[in-house]
Amino acid sequence: MPNVVTVDTNTFEGQKPGTSGLRKKVKVFLQEHYTENFIQSILDANKDSLIGSTLVVGGDGRYLVKEVVDKIIKISAANGVAKLLVGQHGILSTPAVSCIIRKYNTLGGIVLTASHNPGGIDNDFGIKFNCSNGGPAPDATTNQIYAITTTIKQYKIVPDIVCDISKIGTTNFDVEGNKFTVEVIDSVNDYVKYMKEIFDFDKIKQLIQGTEQKKPFNVLIDSMNGVTGPYVKRIFVDELGAKEANVRRIIPLEDFGGAHPDPNLTYAADLVNAVKGGDYDFGAAFDGDGDRNMIIGRDAFFVTPSDSLAVLANNLQYIPYFLKTGVRGFARSMPTAAAVDRVAAATGKEMFEVPTGWKYFGNLMDAGRLSLCGEESFGTGSDHVREKDGLWAALAWLSVLAATSLSVQDILKAHWAQFGRNYFTRYDYEECASDPCNEMMQVLEKTITSPGFVGSSHISGDKTYVVKLADNFSYMDPIDQSVAMKQGLRIIFEDGSRIVLRLSGTGSSGATVRLYIDSYEATNVMGDAQVMLKPLIDVALKISKLTEYTGRDAPTVIT
Ligand code: G6P
Ligand code: ZN
Repeated sequence: MPNVVTVDTNTFEGQKPGTSGLRKKVKVFLQEHYTENFIQSILDANKDSLIGSTLVVGGDGRYLVKEVVDKIIKISAANGVAKLLVGQHGILSTPAVSCIIRKYNTLGGIVLTASHNPGGIDNDFGIKFNCSNGGPAPDATTNQIYAITTTIKQYKIVPDIVCDISKIGTTNFDVEGNKFTVEVIDSVNDYVKYMKEIFDFDKIKQLIQGTEQKKPFNVLIDSMNGVTGPYVKRIFVDELGAKEANVRRIIPLEDFGGAHPDPNLTYAADLVNAVKGGDYDFGAAFDGDGDRNMIIGRDAFFVTPSDSLAVLANNLQYIPYFLKTGVRGFARSMPTAAAVDRVAAATGKEMFEVPTGWKYFGNLMDAGRLSLCGEESFGTGSDHVREKDGLWAALAWLSVLAATSLSVQDILKAHWAQFGRNYFTRYDYEECASDPCNEMMQVLEKTITSPGFVGSSHISGDKTYVVKLADNFSYMDPIDQSVAMKQGLRIIFEDGSRIVLRLSGTGSSGATVRLYIDSYEATNVMGDAQVMLKPLIDVALKISKLTEYTGRDAPTVIT
C-alpha cells in the first residue's frame, strides 16, 4: 500500500503568482523541492475544503507538464484530495480546464502553462490555480498561496503512486486506507460538447463548406503548435468539415516547434503571410494554452482585439447561447480601447472597466452582471467559462460571418460607420532591465500626479492635447469591494484620447514596458492606426522619457 512521506524543505524566494500564476524559467522549477513547495502551498491555501475534494489537472503540453502532473498526483494523494480529473497526456487547454471545473463542480483546477511564453527546457513554465467557479484565483487566494510559500517547512507526497496518464481510464489507489482516484479524461470531449451547445455548428459548417449558391468560406486556423491542436482538429476538421489544409500546426509540441506561441502580428507572422499570399477569407491563431486569439480577414486584414470585442458585442444575437441566457453587461480591461463602451451605450448595457487580468471579470460574471468581455492582449470571452477562450472567439466570429454574409473587413467598416472608430496601438518593449523601468514608472507617476499636470497642454505636430485626468489606475470590485491599486498609469486628454503605461505582469525575466494608445474618431475611420496615432505616441514617449530609461528607440512588438 503506498504510504505518505513527509519531506523537509526550505522556502524559495519569489514564488509570488503574477498576473496569471507562477511563471518562471523551466530551470527554476527544476530545482529540488521548488515545484513541490508551490503545489503544497496551493493545496494548503485550500485546506478547509481539500479533504475529499476533486481537482482538475492539465496543461498546454509544454516541456515539464507531464513531470509536474506526476508530482501533483503524488502530492494530492498525500493531502487528502479524493479525485483528480487529468487530461490525457496532461493536455487541457486553459478554457477547457475552466469548462471541466464548472461542469463537474470541482474544488478547482491546476493549470500547467506559461500561456503565450516560449516553451522548452530553456524557456518558461508556469503553474496556476483556478477556483471552483472555473476562473483564475483572485488576489486574496494568490496572496495566501504566496504567504504559505514564504514559511513552508514540509510537504507531503506519496512517492509510490505510479499512474499512466497516456491512457484514458480510472485508477483507484488506497492511500493509508483512503481511496484516491485518478481519472484520465479525453482532453477535448467536454469542451467540444459545450461548444456545440453554445454555437450553431450546422450554420458554421455551411459557411465553411459552402452551398450551391455560395463558395466555401476559406479559413486558416493556426494552433502555433500549442494546446489547441487537438481541439482544432476535432472542431474544424471532424465537426465543421474543414480540410486538413485549413488548419496548421495542430500537433502540440513541448517547445512549440521553436515558435513563440503568442497570436499577434509579430509572432503569428507565418499565419499573416499565409493569409496574405493565399485565397483565404479568415484566419485565426491561438496561444500556447488556447485562451488568446487573433482574428484576421482576407488579405490579412487585422482586427484589433478591442474592435473584435466591440463587433461581437454588437452581434450576439447570432449566437444561440446568448439567445438563451440573454445579454447582461460588457467589460474590458483598462488599457483596452473603449470601442465596446459605445456598443454598451447604444444597447443600454452595463459597462465595466477592470484592471488587466482575466480574474477581474469573474466576480461580475458570477453575479450575473457580465456576459461578454475582452482585453487588448488578444483575449475575448464570455460567461460560458471563467477564462478567455480563443477557439470560442473564432467560432463567435464565424457565427457572425455566417449570419451576415459579410467579409471580416466589411463588418469592421460597417461597425466604424455606425459607432465611429477607436484607433488603438500597443508598443511593447520586451526584456528591458528592470531597475530603470521601475524608476521610469515611479518618476512618471510622480509627474502625472503633480499639481498642474491636469490641464497641461502637450503639442505634437499640429495637434494639441490637454490633460483631463491622470492617475495610477485603481479598481474597486463592485461585488466584493476588494480593491486593486496601481494597475497602470493613464493620462486621459480632453478629446477622450488615452495614453496608458504599465509593466507586464506575465514575463519571467527582466521587464516589459507596454505603452497603449487609444484615440476616438467619429467620422475619419478609414485611416492607418500608426499614422493616426503618431502624434499621441510622440507625446507619450516625451512625457515618459521612455527611450532615456530603457535605452530603446523602437518597440520589439507593435500591435
Ligand atoms: C494574461 C492574462 C490576461 C492579461 C495578460 C496581461 O494573458 O490572462 O488577462 O491581459 O496576461 O499580460 P501582461 O504581460 O500585459 O501583464
Ligand atoms: Zn494564454
